[in-house]
Amino acid sequence: MHIIVTDRDGNDHTLEALEGWRVMEIIRDYGLPIKAECGGACACGTCHVYVAPEWVGRLYPASEDEIYMLDSAFEVEKNSRLSCQILFTPELDGLRVTLAPGSES
Ligand code: FES
Repeated sequence: MHIIVTDRDGNDHTLEALEGWRVMEIIRDYGLPIKAECGGACACGTCHVYVAPEWVGRLYPASEDEIYMLDSAFEVEKNSRLSCQILFTPELDGLRVTLAPGSES
């Protein structure tokens, strides 16, 4: 299973994904620069990603906490999510996200 992450320079990276890991952890573990300051506690907004349009409706909806925290992120779009709040499951095999501005480590 894998996810595809586009970095801020527009390069795609295919990352091996494990069930039960947060998408933020997969990105960080692979070594792509993602700040994720709070370590996944939904308390910083610096793990912000854009989800590819075809995947938006296939994700578990954002919680109120996530929506609140996204308010403090930069350049929030309709397809914005906090990657620490997306738990990887086999249904998300092939998920595509793009690292958003403000999440640089
Ligand atoms: S790592 Fe802080 S909100 Fe996701």
